[in-house]
Amino acid sequence: MVSYKELGLVNSRDIFKKAFEGKYAIPAFNFNNMEQMQAIVQACVEKKSPVILQVSSGARKYANQTLLRYMAQGAVEYAKELGYNIPIVLHLDHGDTFELCKSCIEMGFSSVMIDGSHHSYEKNIELTRQVVEYAHKYDVTVEGELGVLAGIEDEVVAEHHTYTEPDQVEDFVSKTGVDSLAISIGTSHGANKFKPEQCTRNAEGILVPPPLRFDILEEIEKRIPGFPIVLHGASSVPQDQVAIINKYGGALKDAIGIPEEQLRKAASSAVCKINIDSDGRLAMTAAIREVFAVQPAEFDPRKYLGPARESLKKLYMHKVENVLGSAGKA
Ligand code: G3H
Ligand code: 13P
Ligand code: ZN
Repeated sequence: MVSYKELGLVNSRDIFKKAFEGKYAIPAFNFNNMEQMQAIVQACVEKKSPVILQVSSGARKYANQTLLRYMAQGAVEYAKELGYNIPIVLHLDHGDTFELCKSCIEMGFSSVMIDGSHHSYEKNIELTRQVVEYAHKYDVTVEGELGVLAGIEDEVVAEHHTYTEPDQVEDFVSKTGVDSLAISIGTSHGANKFKPEQCTRNAEGILVPPPLRFDILEEIEKRIPGFPIVLHGASSVPQDQVAIINKYGGALKDAIGIPEEQLRKAASSAVCKINIDSDGRLAMTAAIREVFAVQPAEFDPRKYLGPARESLKKLYMHKVENVLGSAGKA
């Protein structure tokens, strides 16, 4: 059993409390490799932002849980070396079983998500409660989920959103003892969050997706005042990055994300954690495609992973400063 505290990591309790009171959100950036981790730490140290390093079960399979944990431990030391000891959380994203959550806790994770949203309400409560009971023994914080996001989640494809039912949140939170709650109010995973026919066009001819269901969020806030809310599927799918990818041989069609103003508004509410993965994937892919196309004779991975890391860092700095509002809060 490795305690995250020995690794210099923190759980999410205090940083969520501060985020709630300060009306900003903590960035939760997914990582699978060294360049992503470096970009996250560099950006968050430079902007003095707390950060959640997120590991999905896919990332765990891809990179190995032990290696990722050592990388998170390294991230703490790296931040200090860069000159600022920011709070770093190592979080399991979309844990789907008790065993997976337990294994991550034993390995040094400081926070886990148990995503029982595809189960019945009763089964979701039972599974979430089981994880909370185990996690809290080690002061590890737990994120639960109510409602289902459209798109692919945990390899389950949902055609439509099942928005979170405000009438259930108080009961769910009190019966499970979770520390934060992921909700469904119109975001979804990936780079194709809306079909063009769901959008309207603004004066410049740019597609504007339907707004998030802030009415549902407000109802939830009334039922569980002061409780930290989590937004998954919160990438904005920057169109300049999509254009670079497609210019250099990519084939991304109808890639549409959540407008950043909507996320800024969410961050100033009870939303204390905003999950961003796809935007990082787009930034890396755009930078790598550009090097491959413009310098086809290049074959040193540092020559394309380096620019990809720079582009990621720029993206994360922008998110922290202009979207989440967490800059200067570490
Ligand atoms: O919620 C999903 C995250 O973007 C992680 O994606 O399962 O492909 O690693 P992944
Ligand atoms: P995006 O696909 O919108 O980046 O969402 C990531 C996420 O929710 C990770 O859990
Ligand atoms: Zn998610």
